Amino acid sequence: MHRWQPKLGLIQETLLLTLYARALDAELPSPILGDRLSADLAGGIDYDFRKLKVKPNLVLTTALRAKKLDDVVRAYTAAHPGCVVLDLGCGLDTRMLRCDPPPGVDWYDIDFPEVVNLRSEHLPSRSHLVGADLTQSGWLAAIPDDRPAVIVAEGLLPFMPGDSFQMMTRQLTRHFPSGELALNGYTRFAAWAMKYHPTIKALGITAAQGFDDAHEPESWGADLELVEERILTRAPEIARFPQPLRALTRLTARSTALSRQGARILRYRF
Ligand SMILES: C[S@@+](CC[C@H](N)C(=O)[O-])C[C@H]1O[C@@H](n2cnc3c(N)ncnc32)[C@H](O)[C@@H]1O
Repeated sequence: MHRWQPKLGLIQETLLLTLYARALDAELPSPILGDRLSADLAGGIDYDFRKLKVKPNLVLTTALRAKKLDDVVRAYTAAHPGCVVLDLGCGLDTRMLRCDPPPGVDWYDIDFPEVVNLRSEHLPSRSHLVGADLTQSGWLAAIPDDRPAVIVAEGLLPFMPGDSFQMMTRQLTRHFPSGELALNGYTRFAAWAMKYHPTIKALGITAAQGFDDAHEPESWGADLELVEERILTRAPEIARFPQPLRALTRLTARSTALSRQGARILRYRF
């Protein structure tokens, strides 16, 4: 099989990490997400994934957070069949194919231009592709503003510098009449600790950001209201984690403070 080489910058290269984690999950006997297309996609890339030093915990939590964000999108598109979906910092995620939204839904996958170019070459999808730097304004002009929207930002927050994530959020919530924003939240400590994580170190990333209080985005001037903070150490899928990870995760689940340092899904309405 001909394998293609991704030519990506440091931040863009993080998409290979999440793709690979989903691919490894798909190979498990009892996968959490079971995304075979991610496994096929990763298998076609000429890249030394071993250098990412991806451990089982990262595989399972990445698959689990993707599954929970998929659930948010599925619920919203079922309740609003004419809505718009935005996947911000989509990387090479196959979310649209997993969620299979109703035909009236318009789905936009947005990432840096070099990333969406890779998507159009290597990933079959019927989504609209928008190549943009999300720290800049102007890219929203290409997106309808008269329909409700569900906006997903998976693995994006830590890589947006300064207050650019907040600024982008304000632009988004002013653009649409109503909607939901769902993201995987990183605490400040988790974001700080991230740069010492072997995988992130392997990619050469030195700064990341997060916030502790799930209510904090309500003060960003974006009219956001927290609907749900879902602590993933308490998800039923933990029963499928192999030991000793399952026992360790269940132990962590007893402490909300500790659990928040891992993965949590935050959902806001506007
Ligand atoms: C960790 S990856 C996650 C990718 C995808 N959401 C997933 O779960 O597989 C982070 C993604 O955010 C994108 N990204 C980071 N900063 C961005 C920016 N300023 N503008 C557009 N995309 C950005 C990167 O290119 C990358 O694809």
